[in-house]
Amino acid sequence: MEGLADKVLRDVLTRIGGYDGAVTEFVRVSGNLLPQRTFLRLCPELANGSRTHAGTPLVVQLLGSDPACMADNAGQLAELAPAGIDLNFGCPAPTVNRHGGGAMLLDDPERMRRIVLAVRMAVPQAIPVSAKMRLGVCDTGKALECALALEDGGVSSLVVHARTRDDGYRPPAHWEWVARIRETVQVPVIANGEVWTAEDYLRCRAVSACDDVMIGRGAVADPFLARRIRALNAGDRITEQRNVDWLEFLPLLAEYWQQVQARVEGRHAPGRLKLWLNSLRRTFVEAEALYWAVRPLRDVRQTSRMLEQHAVPLWRGVLPHAA
Ligand SMILES: Cc1cc2nc3c(=O)[nH]c(=O)nc-3n(C[C@H](O)[C@H](O)[C@H](O)COP(=O)(O)O)c2cc1C
Repeated sequence: MEGLADKVLRDVLTRIGGYDGAVTEFVRVSGNLLPQRTFLRLCPELANGSRTHAGTPLVVQLLGSDPACMADNAGQLAELAPAGIDLNFGCPAPTVNRHGGGAMLLDDPERMRRIVLAVRMAVPQAIPVSAKMRLGVCDTGKALECALALEDGGVSSLVVHARTRDDGYRPPAHWEWVARIRETVQVPVIANGEVWTAEDYLRCRAVSACDDVMIGRGAVADPFLARRIRALNAGDRITEQRNVDWLEFLPLLAEYWQQVQARVEGRHAPGRLKLWLNSLRRTFVEAEALYWAVRPLRDVRQTSRMLEQHAVPLWRGVLPHAA
């Protein structure tokens, strides 16, 4: 997720566990051949066999609308041996859509097919090429046609975010549409949209008839969601103990903050922490208090101190900037 699920967040979430795989934020392809260092900057895990620290395979996502340019960049990326290459046909951002990229392509299934075809030809067969689509731009009229075009182009699997571009991120997600797409194509379909809890996951699987589900905002809001889903699938009894989770989570939040400071410019670092805490508020009352405490702070040192005050004694010695 662009601006959110960067290397640091991927690292912490996959350490907690439950994930079969992860996808990078989109890498924008617009006209130029990106140097390998750009891919390595956005996806440092490429230097680690395209796996996160915890060993979760990481697929790199490309976003662009020109088949030849996408193919050139995918070929360049392939040299770094990503676990897979995913193509974005779902981004609703106006800056992206204005240039015909992301979800705008859902109005032009033939172009989608040509993009996949060109990328597939530029990338060795050993590297899977997948796609992520929404149901359409304004309505679902072309949803099945788009899915068929992606399959025809050669995708090995398809993630369907069960909303149109115009739906934005508003509930509900139309999982029944994912089921229709699943019935229409032969390739594996992965359902996505509006899975915040293990119960949502079960309902999403039942309605979409998909074996696999991708979680987005739910993973950021509840770092234990994927692990709980995995336990559920293993037949374990699920008990939700938010206060226990929070205690387990605190050292990982400290680790996150430490890594953010190492990777992000000082003036932007507190903002990254606030962004995540803002999502975590949905799950943890403790995150709510912490969010409001750090919200006015702009300085790394003050932020560290505030974090420590809220989490003593677990963090003592973990936060380098705290006095
Ligand atoms: C801030 C933000 C950034 C996102 N960036 C991406 C992205 O780079 N690539 C992508 O395929 N989807 C992106 N998405 C969409 C999510 O991956 C997901 O499809 C969507 O949020 C629906 O799933 P959810 O309800 O589980 O969040 C983004 C969503 C948000 C909220």
